[in-house]
Amino acid sequence: MSALKTYRRPPPGSHSDYLYPDYASTVSRAPSQPLVLLPQTLSEITGPVFGHERVSASDADLTRKHDGEPLGERILVCGRVMDEDGRAVPNTLIEVWQANAAGRYRHQRDQHDAPLDPNFTGTGRTLTDDNGFYRFVSIRPGAYPWRNHPNAWRPAHIHFSLFGNAFATRLVTQMYFPGDPLLAFDPIYNSVPAGARERMVSAFDLSLTEPEHALGFRFDIVLRGRDATPMEH
Ligand SMILES: [Fe+2]
Repeated sequence: MSALKTYRRPPPGSHSDYLYPDYASTVSRAPSQPLVLLPQTLSEITGPVFGHERVSASDADLTRKHDGEPLGERILVCGRVMDEDGRAVPNTLIEVWQANAAGRYRHQRDQHDAPLDPNFTGTGRTLTDDNGFYRFVSIRPGAYPWRNHPNAWRPAHIHFSLFGNAFATRLVTQMYFPGDPLLAFDPIYNSVPAGARERMVSAFDLSLTEPEHALGFRFDIVLRGRDATPMEH
């Protein structure tokens, strides 16, 4: 046991607080008692194991899940997953989900007055390669309203879930788009301290952009440490 590598806890200022009253649902879900710290054991460091063989290359293309092509601006989202020392994290399962170009999720609970796209489901997954790289093809999601406060709109975003090789390297976050005017008004984005929240904003990258095909956005992800990509609670 003593030879096992353990994970340091997140440094202050790198993630949102549990309670951020402007983000209304945190008021009811934030812990009201001090947290109980659990010692790390084998299960936090070695598990879980999932079925990599079930992830196929086509799972990473959200534009080819149906007979026709989805409406919207086609995008490529690419990046590298790294550990706290900047080393590649290969073989990490990345799952994404997002609204369609009109800002509507294909989900029963989303009854926002915007059209569904019969050619877009909005979910995908992939594994990072030996150098920690991943790549998705999708369409740019639209902004959508939510009822957090009057006239509240979420900036365009893609939800990300990452499974490293242990529970301690699980990360759920949101990727945003550069220059989105809604970021300044979004309590979820702003619940993360300044200096860390910017790590959730992707970068437009002309070198990733494919002529006549799709705009490229770069989104690198750091799983832990001082430069960690902020995580949702
Ligand atoms: Fe969302």
